[in-house]
Amino acid sequence: MAEKKRETFGSKLGFIMATAGSALGLGNIYRFPCEAGANGGAAFVIVYLALALVIGTPLMISEFVIGRNSRSNPVGAFRKLSGGKGTAWPVVGYLGVLCAFLILAFYTTVAGWTLGYLGKSAAGHFAGQDLAAIQRQFSDFTNHPWLPILCQLAFLALTAVVVMRGVKGGIERWSKILMPMLLVIMVVLCVKSLTLSGAREGLEFFFKPDFSKITGKVVLSALGQSFFSLSIGMGALITYGSYLGRRDNMVSSAVSVTLADALVAILAGVIIFPAAFSFGIQPEAGASLAFTTLPLVFQQMTGGYFFCLIFFLLLVIATLTSTISLLEVIVAALTEELRLSRTKAALLGAVGTAVIGVLATMSFRAGSPLHIGAKTVFDLLDQITALYMMPIGGLLIVLFVGWKMKRGDVMDELTSHQTLRPGLRKAILFIIKYIAPVAIAVIFVSQLVG
Ligand code: PHE
Repeated sequence: MAEKKRETFGSKLGFIMATAGSALGLGNIYRFPCEAGANGGAAFVIVYLALALVIGTPLMISEFVIGRNSRSNPVGAFRKLSGGKGTAWPVVGYLGVLCAFLILAFYTTVAGWTLGYLGKSAAGHFAGQDLAAIQRQFSDFTNHPWLPILCQLAFLALTAVVVMRGVKGGIERWSKILMPMLLVIMVVLCVKSLTLSGAREGLEFFFKPDFSKITGKVVLSALGQSFFSLSIGMGALITYGSYLGRRDNMVSSAVSVTLADALVAILAGVIIFPAAFSFGIQPEAGASLAFTTLPLVFQQMTGGYFFCLIFFLLLVIATLTSTISLLEVIVAALTEELRLSRTKAALLGAVGTAVIGVLATMSFRAGSPLHIGAKTVFDLLDQITALYMMPIGGLLIVLFVGWKMKRGDVMDELTSHQTLRPGLRKAILFIIKYIAPVAIAVIFVSQLVG
């Protein structure tokens, strides 16, 4: 039976935008400030940027190599490229699918909040409110018995609907228009934040490093954050790479996406920290940091109502293009491995996620019993994925491309089937083979024993 022709992205720009859509999201605007605030500011930021460039980009390229060469979902990809029966490599693919599922579960908790905050900004809930009132709104919302759950389920449903429509119709079209818009509005916000009184202190916290703050834990957190933010180490970009056209340049795509991702994270920091210091919000505030700081900045702006509304709308969309890529990992695996239809696979993935995701959302309530040890289910899912599963997945992925795949195939992919000059390909391969695996292993192991 002839195999059904696999979908591909319509253009290289479409591919970059879809990959950027996956990368840009709550990881940049919510999780990055959270982590930078908790890990001492500037020192964390520098380690994070270095790791994103030196390990993140080559790992992203490795995922594209696996994806495009196999034209398969992560499980099938490892099976095909490792020579079929009797190999353990498909386990890396299964690990990725599991990781996508666990991330989607807690990610949609915060995704639901963005939807809730979109509603709040439409209703004008932030106008004239002081810091205490804005903080109370956050805790009232996250403690509400059903509202955050409803928002989370609505977000999952939205994700499933787009994924059912397939790669080109759904994912590509959205990302192309909306990602650039998000960038513009963030620049406007930056300007406002920098003119607030007290902005300087926040900028120093974010840009002036105190290197004595760098510990093993800080480095592992920075590694986890860079993987999370770039959507690497779990197969999302293997899946997207499998839809990449034969002749498109994957190296330049990976570089563009890494730079865009870092830029948006830095912009988020430049918006949030000056404002936080100016309003007297602790940088260690955690989950509430972005959700209390941003409404307060908007309040100070002429046309704040309008900007706030547009911002949360774009944030919802940036988040959606990330949840789409997570669900797509699960759907690609279910349709190709179990031969389910796209619709059934998307429904199954969304319902499965909802079960665990609702627990993550409920674990946020004050006094919730949904703790394991001192951690909420939400924190536990966040940490298991970002600090353990993604680094391990990333390590196995670079080892696979560097040492297991046929060198000719890897080179073909890196040079986009001989249509491009070899250029940097040797250096990239060197990083993939030696530097990235050693660096990931050292960071990971030293933190485990330290
Ligand atoms: N990179 C996304 C973000 O920064 C989150 C994500 C992680 C998406 C892993 C897909 C895979 O928000």
